[in-house]
Amino acid sequence: MSTLKQVVNEAAVRLRMAGVEGPRRDAELIAGHVLGLDRAQIIARGDDVVAVADVARVEALAAERAARRPMAQILGRREFWSLPFKVTAATLDPRPDTETLVDATLGVIGLGRWKPLRLLDLGTGTGCILAALLSECPAATGIGVDASPEAAAVASENIAALGLGARAEIRVGDWCAGLAGTFDVIVSNPPYIPEAQVARLAPEVRLFEPRMALTPGGDGLGAYRAILKGLHGIAAPGAIVAFEVGQGQADDVAALMSATGLTAVTQRHDLAGIARVVLGQQGG
Ligand SMILES: C[S@@+](CC[C@H](N)C(=O)[O-])C[C@H]1O[C@@H](n2cnc3c(N)ncnc32)[C@H](O)[C@@H]1O
Repeated sequence: MSTLKQVVNEAAVRLRMAGVEGPRRDAELIAGHVLGLDRAQIIARGDDVVAVADVARVEALAAERAARRPMAQILGRREFWSLPFKVTAATLDPRPDTETLVDATLGVIGLGRWKPLRLLDLGTGTGCILAALLSECPAATGIGVDASPEAAAVASENIAALGLGARAEIRVGDWCAGLAGTFDVIVSNPPYIPEAQVARLAPEVRLFEPRMALTPGGDGLGAYRAILKGLHGIAAPGAIVAFEVGQGQADDVAALMSATGLTAVTQRHDLAGIARVVLGQQGG
C-alpha cells in the first residue's frame, strides 16, 4: 500500500537519478496526470492511499520520463499563448520563444487585426502559431501547411478543439507548393538547427522530437531559402513575412529576405535577449 507522497517521492528520485531537470515538479505533474489532480492537490493529499493500478501507471510514465521523453509528450499537451494544444511524437513541443514570433507579428499587424486578413503558417506543427494569430485576429482566416501528415492531423484536431475550424484549413504540403491565392501575413517557425548541432541537443529534443521539425540539414538555413523562393505570387502586396530564427541566424535570414525583395526587414529579440524573429514586408 503506497501513499501519494511515497509514489511522488519514488518517481522524483528516479527522475533525479536519470539527470532530469526539475525532477520533483515532473513527478508531481505525472502523478497529477494519472490521478486527475493539480499540483496543489498532489501536495495537499499526500497521505491518500493510491490504487495499485495507478501506482503502476505513475511508475510507467516516470520510466518514460527517465528515458528523457519530453513532459509535453507524456502529458500529451502544452499551453501556448494561453491556449491548450495536443502534442504528440509527430509534432514539435511548442516553445515559449515562439510566442515572440506571434507577439512581433501582431505588433506589425496593428489595427489590421480587425480586417479579414488571410494568414499562412508554414510548418504548422501543432498549429500553435496559426491558432494564436486567429485567436487575436477575429476576422482573419488562415491556412496551416505541414509536410508531415501526422503533424497536420494533430494541427487539425487542435484547431477544431479551439473552435477555430470555420476559419482555418490545415494542409499537407511542401512549404508554398500548390498554394493558390495570396496571403496578407505569412509566418513560419521552420526547422533551423544546423546539421552539425543536432548531436549536441538535449536528449529530450534529439531523441524524441521529429527530426524534420528540428533541422533542414546543412547550415540550417535551407528552409528559409525554400520558403522565400516560393513566396513570389502568394504574398499579397504589403504582406507581412515573419520568421522565427535560431540563435545567431537573424542577420543571415534578414539578408536572405532583403535579397528576395522584401523591405522594412527588422529583427525582434526574445525574453533572453536573443534575436529570435525577423520580419519583412512585400512591396506594394
Ligand atoms: C520547428 S517545427 C515548428 C512547428 C510549429 N509551427 C511550432 O512553432 O511549434 C517545423 C515544422 O515544419 C515542418 N516541415 C518540415 N519540412 C517541411 C516542408 N518541406 N514543408 C512543410 N512543412 C515542413 C515540420 O514537420 C514541423 O512541423
